[in-house]
Amino acid sequence: MPLSSVLARIDADLPNALERLFALIRIPSISTDSAYAKDVAACAAALKADLDGMGFETTVHPTAGHPILVAHRRKPGAKHVLFYGHYDVQPVDPENLWTTPPFESAVIERDGRKVITGRGAADDKGQVMTFIEACRAYIKETGDLPVGVTILLEGEEESGSVNLPPFVEAHAQELAADVGLVCDTGMWDETTPAITASLRGMVYQEIIIRAANRDLHSGLYGGAAQNPVHILSRIIAGLHDENGRIMVPGFYDGVAEPDPEQLAGWKALGLTEADFLGPIGLKHSIGEKGRDIAEHIQSRPTCDINGIWGGYTGEGAKTVIAAEARAKISFRLVGQQNPDAVKKGLHAFIAARMPADCSFELVDMKGSPAVVLPYESAPLQAARRALRAEWGKDAAIFGSGGSIPVVGDFKRVLGLDCVLVGFGLEDDRIHSPNEKYNLSSFHKGARSWARILMALK
Ligand code: BES
Ligand code: MN
Ligand code: MN
Repeated sequence: MPLSSVLARIDADLPNALERLFALIRIPSISTDSAYAKDVAACAAALKADLDGMGFETTVHPTAGHPILVAHRRKPGAKHVLFYGHYDVQPVDPENLWTTPPFESAVIERDGRKVITGRGAADDKGQVMTFIEACRAYIKETGDLPVGVTILLEGEEESGSVNLPPFVEAHAQELAADVGLVCDTGMWDETTPAITASLRGMVYQEIIIRAANRDLHSGLYGGAAQNPVHILSRIIAGLHDENGRIMVPGFYDGVAEPDPEQLAGWKALGLTEADFLGPIGLKHSIGEKGRDIAEHIQSRPTCDINGIWGGYTGEGAKTVIAAEARAKISFRLVGQQNPDAVKKGLHAFIAARMPADCSFELVDMKGSPAVVLPYESAPLQAARRALRAEWGKDAAIFGSGGSIPVVGDFKRVLGLDCVLVGFGLEDDRIHSPNEKYNLSSFHKGARSWARILMALK
């Protein structure tokens, strides 16, 4: 049976697959920092060379930002899948907290596990390579893939995917497929695979509060001049009430209650606040009172300040009233919440709290609605069977609190439903120092994709 020989090929080729992943991780493809634009492009070029070598027809499309790679291996008469992943990574700061260099990768032992180190090991280079390695083994072993495959790899996911929606629109025909596959999410735990059932959406804005026309001496002007840092702090402090509810007008429009069956399913998974928060040194969820942790992290919307600054933050004391204060704020959206309505609500919330002599500006960084994936679709069921065969356990079906904007674009533009299967773990430290990907995630992830491709045939 070809599948068992494909799986054996993945096993035997693991050392080479690791070398290929290490080579990708060595390229510092940080998309948010323009100083790394060459590296982002080099990463796309490296992936193109690899995919061309596997018989894909690969094009690296320049965009106003970083390139988008599209690779096809068509198979007339067979089903066609569109795989999405991203080859860009998050910045590495604070770099001094890394115990291994962020852009060198190796398999090391950590907490009793073999792990692959480096920025992007889990988000998303390691995950992308699970799929590519599965394809490679299939092609080497059988000369072909069980289905037609298009691979779309983006270089701007971590900086908001701004150029992707227009690209998908312009290439809708070329990207047509029967199902979308995404490998950028997590497992339930180390031994239990997962299929992600929903993703939260996002609104991200920068708030700027301005008062005097220059920074002021706080002795000469203190007590008379408006202080933008105070105004901003007061606004931020008012964003949540004492029960954890978000006070932006109209914010909860479109937020629905999960149906009882779904709630029961989450309860059955038995996640507690202590389980979820213990590993990060916390105990108590700040989510809305009267709701479960499972709701807090998947079906409830959030508001978080991601950064706040203004005035003097250097060494020692400087007596100053700043001319402006800034914060970056993100909202995670669920259900039918409309990103534009949330932006309007935030604008109204701030406007209503603006005292005399102060003005504000909101800079829009991005918006994408939440997505819910169909539960009972044939491809999802096929993936479930394949995952059970590999892991010996049913996959958990669980919503993720994270966002992957393209999933909504695929549905809206291509009418395409995605199956989200990923092998990340909560302790992978994605976006943080010391990111890693478990060797078992990488190895069994590739084996899982081989099985899924076969099951989708
Ligand atoms: N892969 C993550 C999102 C994710 C992580 C989903 C774990 C499910 C489980 C992705 O790379 C990411 O970081 N997305 C950003 C999106 C933002 C930059 C628009 C996010 O969720 O903050
Ligand atoms: Mn990712
Ligand atoms: Mn990410």
